[in-house]
Amino acid sequence: MSDWYKSAVFYQIFVRAFCDSNGDGIGDLRGVMSKLDYLRALGVNTLWLMPITPSPLRDHGYDVSGHFDVHPDYGTLQDFRELVDAAHARALRVIVELVPNHTSDQHPWFQASRDPHHPEHAKYRDWYVWSDTDQKYKEARIIFIDYEKSNWTWDEKRGQYFWHRFFYHQPDLNFDNPEVQKAMLRVAQFWVDQGADGIRVDAPPYLIEREGTNCENLPESHAYYKRLRAFLDAYAPGTMLLAEANQWPRDTLPYFGDGDEFQMNFHFPLMPRIFLALAQGNREPLDWVLAQTPPLPENCQWATFLRNHDELTLEMVTTDEREFMWNFYAPDVAMRKNLGIRRRLAPLLDNDRARIQVAHSLLLTLIGSPVLYYGDEIGMGDNIRLDDRWGVRTPMQWDASRNAGFSNAPREKMYLPVIDDAVYGYQRVNVALAERAPDSFLHWLRRALKIRAQHPAFGRGELQTLATNNPALFAYTRATPQEKLLVVNNLSAHAQKVSLPLDTRGVARDLESGASLTFDPALNFELPRYGYRWFALVPSPTDFPFLERAASPGAESREH
Ligand code: NOJ
Repeated sequence: MSDWYKSAVFYQIFVRAFCDSNGDGIGDLRGVMSKLDYLRALGVNTLWLMPITPSPLRDHGYDVSGHFDVHPDYGTLQDFRELVDAAHARALRVIVELVPNHTSDQHPWFQASRDPHHPEHAKYRDWYVWSDTDQKYKEARIIFIDYEKSNWTWDEKRGQYFWHRFFYHQPDLNFDNPEVQKAMLRVAQFWVDQGADGIRVDAPPYLIEREGTNCENLPESHAYYKRLRAFLDAYAPGTMLLAEANQWPRDTLPYFGDGDEFQMNFHFPLMPRIFLALAQGNREPLDWVLAQTPPLPENCQWATFLRNHDELTLEMVTTDEREFMWNFYAPDVAMRKNLGIRRRLAPLLDNDRARIQVAHSLLLTLIGSPVLYYGDEIGMGDNIRLDDRWGVRTPMQWDASRNAGFSNAPREKMYLPVIDDAVYGYQRVNVALAERAPDSFLHWLRRALKIRAQHPAFGRGELQTLATNNPALFAYTRATPQEKLLVVNNLSAHAQKVSLPLDTRGVARDLESGASLTFDPALNFELPRYGYRWFALVPSPTDFPFLERAASPGAESREH
């Protein structure tokens, strides 16, 4: 199916953190391979591997120093190909990263570009954005505000400034140079050749710079992504491009083009509003963001998420909302980073099982294809004493043995300490325990993903929100011509009586318990604090004449 991503459930893996197969204290591709059955049983069907290419790892691999190989910490290209084959054998797809905007300053392209005496200087001279002054592109904002004062850094060797939207050691490539454009197509081609089913494109808004603009979302950048898409459509049809465009909905729409650019983009404005709605016990932020969300071209899909490897970004909220979110979810300033919150899901939601479930109810049933972050399925915690975003990238907790079963390396060789605190410590929070406890969140999520997989309307159905006279209740339907699903979420910490006026009469079948409730036309039940229910609506035949026809096949035979 060429639009497989519409039924995808993604699982994001920081390879360094997932499973160490060779006892060096660092997760690797063979480690991921050894956990494919676990992932299959969880119910995800697409693995997103964070950067695995050579890198000095000053930005966790997003500082690429070689595009055509695997970082030795993670294994070899052969390991990658074997991982893809093993994943495909289990009906799991694999997507990788492409970081077109910048490289590491250690990349041979940059080394040649900065050094006039380098034998390949003439070839690479214009591959980066160089300038004699640091006064250009003044309207471009600084993204890593906790680390950088300017988007320009002086280079001694070259005697010029170079442009960078992220860390000073990540120079931006010059996409006005046709050779750079071609080189990045070759990189994409290479990873498709290795078996990747899709590509997450890092930081797409910043590709091209123009004076007098904020250097984001420029038409020239879109033109390049369309070229990338056309290339992949011709070379490897079905390859999915996922944009990481952290923008307002109106600015993200062009990333889908007319269905001829990215097939998917992360819905950044939706994510913080799930947390806002839960904090305020009010659906208003969700209604607002859905009203802002434009319909997509037919072959496109949003990627939705609760948490990922970065700080929970608060770029797509108002100043007041950001203040509220910081005060509510990050009372300790150590929890804040750049314009966001560097915490994991379970601690953000006070380890409150009901709240974590209702957050997932929203994630799994609202628009788009959900993306889960490794470890959140067992409610892993974070470590805010670690620098930058490391606190949400700690080793996966597999069991209660040494190093949480992640690695058999001596403790001092571990790339990071495992979480070992009183609440989230690996002795209490780990996969083995969660698997043994039928009432664990892991089992809840497995069941929820199973139900989701049985009802394609959750991925593909049209969304219609339903008016309720109680703002704590957020109700909507997802409908395809084949089925109509109803979801009701209680966003508040208090039980609520639900009385939903539906247009018709019929039966609502609870997808979890199988119980049936009649609606006539009001559907009445009660939801506990942060409760949710998912239903299949089966209208009574008199309200849906087409069902009446289907129910009496005899009528057809009588006519003959
Ligand atoms: C976005 C990535 O998600 C983030 O982790 C990284 O630091 C920046 N892009 C720069 O590549």
